[in-house]
Amino acid sequence: MLSTAINPFFKVVIAGVEFSFPIFNASGPLCTSEEELHNLAESKSGAIVTKSCTLNYRQGNALPRYSYNENGFFSVNSTGLANLGWLEYLDIVERLSSTTDKPIIVSIAGMNMADNLTIIRGFQEQGLASLLEINLSCPNIAGKMEVAFELDTLPESLEQIMALKKTIPMGIKLPYYPSRLMLERVARILEAAQVDFISTTNSLTGLDLNPIDGKSSIKPNNGIGGCGGNILPFALGQVAQFSQHFGGKIPIIGVGGIRNGEDVIRYFRAGASGVQLGTHFMENGPGVFEDLHQQVLDFRDLHHPQYKSILNYQNTISDPAE
Ligand SMILES: Cc1cc2nc3c(=O)[nH]c(=O)nc-3n(C[C@H](O)[C@H](O)[C@H](O)COP(=O)(O)O)c2cc1C
Repeated sequence: MLSTAINPFFKVVIAGVEFSFPIFNASGPLCTSEEELHNLAESKSGAIVTKSCTLNYRQGNALPRYSYNENGFFSVNSTGLANLGWLEYLDIVERLSSTTDKPIIVSIAGMNMADNLTIIRGFQEQGLASLLEINLSCPNIAGKMEVAFELDTLPESLEQIMALKKTIPMGIKLPYYPSRLMLERVARILEAAQVDFISTTNSLTGLDLNPIDGKSSIKPNNGIGGCGGNILPFALGQVAQFSQHFGGKIPIIGVGGIRNGEDVIRYFRAGASGVQLGTHFMENGPGVFEDLHQQVLDFRDLHHPQYKSILNYQNTISDPAE
């Protein structure tokens, strides 16, 4: 069993759920089909996160809808929520949960609140997923504002979501908030709604193009899509700000730009309790989790051999003058 090979240094609890390894995949890359989810179960990923699901099957946007710029280490995607539809994931979760003891995190991104509530109710009634991650930040639906930017209606949306909680803790996948004051307001709203965790951040809106012929790297939306990869400082800043506002009350899963063990440590120092990998996993496959396990331990052994838990790093940003 792979889980026996995981060093106890990594054990954390997020929203009441135990993770033997707090490094796992982000919703989206390589987690749509049952085979991909099975591969995650077989890998050293600390959890299995599903592609965000909608009420019905979605083919998604026209191809190419994902690009990777190797020199800049960033991806652009406008997948358009291609997924199997939530009922398929309900069945997959049932099968997966009988073969793995890893936490299973179902990502949900209904096309509207009514869809979200139907899907959440279904997974809560089934009771087999470990966590539900409600994606209120999907940037790829034409003409639709991300719910997490609608601050006037966000409290009501969250109240409707959290009212459906039975046994499965629920968290929110957030977009990038460029304004510190806006982020603070969101933090207060999330606290008041008593969400169980947050994941930050979703991809940042952007564009890549070929300077020779001007062709955009992806087809949908004139090339505009969600960027992942080289966004680490931006996502790290979101984690640190939310962590300061929450003061430990709501656990944070950090996501954005992680490629090596040092990046993982950065996120824990900023206040994360766990981290997710999108672009790096998409480009390099399930072996990245094994690599990160080793890199974090090597880093600890070199710099802080006295640390017995990855949580020794948590919330330890210090002043450069110190
Ligand atoms: C191809 C692709 C598809 C994605 N689809 C989703 C999705 O369905 N739901 C979601 O919450 N985030 C989705 N994301 C965003 C990632 O989960 C992640 O937040 C973002 O890529 C930043 O992480 P990274 O820098 O490690 O890539 C997707 C990202 C990529 C690259």
